[in-house]
Amino acid sequence: MYLLAIHGSPRKNGNTEILLDSFLEGIKLSKINFEKIRLAELNYQPCIECGECEKTGECILNDDFQEIYKKIIKADFLVIATPVFFYSHTSYVQAFFERFQAFWARKYLLNLPHPFLKKPKGILISVGATKGGKIFESMIRCFKYVLDTIYGIYVGGIFFRKIEKKGEILNYPQYLELAKKIGINLENISEEEILRYPEKIGLTK
Ligand SMILES: Cc1cc2nc3c(=O)[nH]c(=O)nc-3n(C[C@H](O)[C@H](O)[C@H](O)COP(=O)(O)O)c2cc1C
Repeated sequence: MYLLAIHGSPRKNGNTEILLDSFLEGIKLSKINFEKIRLAELNYQPCIECGECEKTGECILNDDFQEIYKKIIKADFLVIATPVFFYSHTSYVQAFFERFQAFWARKYLLNLPHPFLKKPKGILISVGATKGGKIFESMIRCFKYVLDTIYGIYVGGIFFRKIEKKGEILNYPQYLELAKKIGINLENISEEEILRYPEKIGLTK
């Protein structure tokens, strides 16, 4: 099994990256192979609405995302780690999501199946500075819609509020431990279990 972990904060070694790395420490103890990519280090564009993917299902933008497409289609798990920026994900993640338009065209215009007939499981990892009850809602809604284009399902997220300064999450080792534990157990969690008992396995929302 292959897990693709996308880090969408501009801040290197910030809170979401620390939390993601703890989760990946757990993944290392499982049988899942993984790769981590920091979007801020890539050269890629948002969708330019050229419409070319509507003809072929392929995006014609010649940038680093071409390699990402290959990784997305082989993923059994797609993990997005992003801070809350103005009640949503970051612009890096937004541009990443927009490039799924090619997958949308494949599925909904060209009626093509997933290239490897997978149903990737989507997981969000996020932190925000405030205690607002709805700060993760927008990113969850978008991610569900994005996952649908690759026949994926959203299985839940690891969310923490009131974390602002760079590295502040290190003051909460219990959060990091929980993320690691979810990583360790991820491969053993059945789809049915995740959908029916998200709170039992530590995933929320
Ligand atoms: C441009 C910007 C917008 C932000 N918007 C929000 C927000 O709407 N709600 C919130 O709770 N925190 C907001 N924050 C705070 C970040 O989510 C918080 O500092 C987080 O810990 C940063 O994670 P990182 O270190 O991984 O980048 C914002 C921060 C920035 C820089």
